Amino acid sequence: MVTADIRPGTDDDKEAVRTLRRLLHDATASFDVNPVSDFVAERAGEVVGWIQVTVHEELDEIGEQGAWIQSLAVLPHLRGQGIGGKLVERAQAQAIQAGDRVIACQPLDQDSAAFFRGQGFADNTMQEHEPFWSKRMT
Ligand SMILES: CC(C)(COP(=O)(O)OP(=O)(O)OC[C@H]1O[C@@H](n2cnc3c(N)ncnc32)[C@H](O)[C@@H]1OP(=O)(O)O)[C@@H](O)C(=O)NCCC(=O)NCCS
Repeated sequence: MVTADIRPGTDDDKEAVRTLRRLLHDATASFDVNPVSDFVAERAGEVVGWIQVTVHEELDEIGEQGAWIQSLAVLPHLRGQGIGGKLVERAQAQAIQAGDRVIACQPLDQDSAAFFRGQGFADNTMQEHEPFWSKRMT
């Protein structure tokens, strides 16, 4: 099991986050790394994972406000060792602290759906809508 520390992201993490964004096929040129919404996983001084979560989103699918996992990525050679799970835990802690009771996400593919299922999320996609998975935290 690889150990990684999770900490708030800052603009100093931009280049590492750019690399992780590319893994999600996101080539956005200009973006901020904000300590309120972005957390990074750091291992031996290297940023190896990143999550972006926004709180108080209108989650129309369940008619409630909650937290929304915008992005999540771990460097490919370090996957399957608990880093993604730690990032989701931190995002949940942030959301609970902000007063949200539900956290939701949009899995990219079957692998990430398997990951989110393992984290306790369930598929609540409504017919003919974008994928919508959520978890009640409290
Ligand atoms: C999804 C992702 C963030 C998970 O990160 P991770 O560090 O591999 O996750 P963890 O090690 O905490 O969890 C592993 C679990 O996820 C699942 N999993 C998904 N992809 C996996 C992979 N490539 N290797 C191993 N396990 C994988 C397994 O079911 C595993 O379950 P287990 O713990 O019961 O064995 C990572 O695979 C990734 O960056 N994927 C590409 C981007 C993506 O799909 N992002 C999510 C949607 S925005």
